[in-house]
Amino acid sequence: MTATGDDSGLDVDQLRQLTPGCLLVNHLNNAGCALPPRTVTDTVVDHLHLEAMIGGYEAHSDASGRIAAVYHSVAQLVGARSDQIALLESATAAWQKAFTAIHHQRPFGSGDRILVSSSEYASNVLPIMQLVKSRGVRLEFIPDDEHGCVDVTAFANLLGDDVAAVVINHCPSQNGLINDVVAIGAALRAADSSAWYLVDACQSIGQLPVAAGEIGADFISATGRKFLRGPRGTGFLYASDRAIAELEPFPLDLHSATWQPDGFEVARGAVKFESWEKSYAAILGLGAAVDYALDCGIEALSTRIAYLSQYARTGLDAISQVTVRDRGLSKSGIVTFTHGRIEAQTLVSLIREAKINVSLSTPDYARVDFDSRAIAAVVRVSPHAYNTTAELDSLLELVTNA
Ligand SMILES: Cc1ncc(COP(=O)(O)O)c(C=O)c1O
Repeated sequence: MTATGDDSGLDVDQLRQLTPGCLLVNHLNNAGCALPPRTVTDTVVDHLHLEAMIGGYEAHSDASGRIAAVYHSVAQLVGARSDQIALLESATAAWQKAFTAIHHQRPFGSGDRILVSSSEYASNVLPIMQLVKSRGVRLEFIPDDEHGCVDVTAFANLLGDDVAAVVINHCPSQNGLINDVVAIGAALRAADSSAWYLVDACQSIGQLPVAAGEIGADFISATGRKFLRGPRGTGFLYASDRAIAELEPFPLDLHSATWQPDGFEVARGAVKFESWEKSYAAILGLGAAVDYALDCGIEALSTRIAYLSQYARTGLDAISQVTVRDRGLSKSGIVTFTHGRIEAQTLVSLIREAKINVSLSTPDYARVDFDSRAIAAVVRVSPHAYNTTAELDSLLELVTNA
């Protein structure tokens, strides 16, 4: 993702017209929660109205065809079948469904190693730390290469029969690098490893192609509200055929299984990783967001986001007090920096006072990544395709004069 110009072919004026929030804020916090396009909000609100008018269950039944279509859309987004998709309320909820199912099939124990990318998000590391404490599991952070990404050769050398799971971040929250999840998947296959491969695509979905078939992961977890521009409270889980065939979610509920006279029967397909209750308004909104992204074209979005984020990096790099903190050979739409004189938290507040939305990333989100670089916090700027270079110039001017 190293575009030098915007050759995305996207009609930015139209993207902005369809994004009402653009009129009010300079929103450079799409890695937090993006401004949704109008179609997403309308879809959610319409369904909420329908629920209020005819009843929630009846509205669900009325919308069943459109709800089924959401699975198709998400499947298309990641190059999977719709029966490999589970809809959940967040990336973390999706990841936990996968992880607990693995643990339920064969509890992790003291003979097991779990290999984790050094930039991994805290919520994906904390449960493993619990298992280190309670069951003697070995948590190993995979060494970085010279660019700060997972070192695929070092990773391959770590593999062995005792590696029970591999937990990788496609794009971290707090660092503009992109991990080569395809090469990591290939290394696992080359080693004939049976380790469960979990990929966190929370920050990459909507801004980069995420192709389940190429990655070869058992699970890919993602959220709706970030670069996909869906509603809050949405996420999804892709599950491989092996995961669907071999794993049973724990605990089950009456959506993931049926109570039979002589026991229970687990649902077929990835829906078994879902829970019974959900916000169908939000799910329909997620579907609208995915359809919108597919209409724009993921490659086109990726190209424009790369262009804008590189523009921001270059501009920030030219400011004497600023250090751009992103690592990685190819970079995502996440731009992080520190200032020589002003603490990141203070700078974020200052920028927000000017009605520019950026965010703060701290070691709480990814302790290994921050501690290894001895950074206390970074300012995170994350443009989306609907942002403009003029908006980035406003930010750059403010930081220059801070
Ligand atoms: C890389 C990464 N993974 C996982 C998550 C968790 O996503 P969610 O809040 O949807 O559970 C985040 C959230 O910021 C993230 O940045």
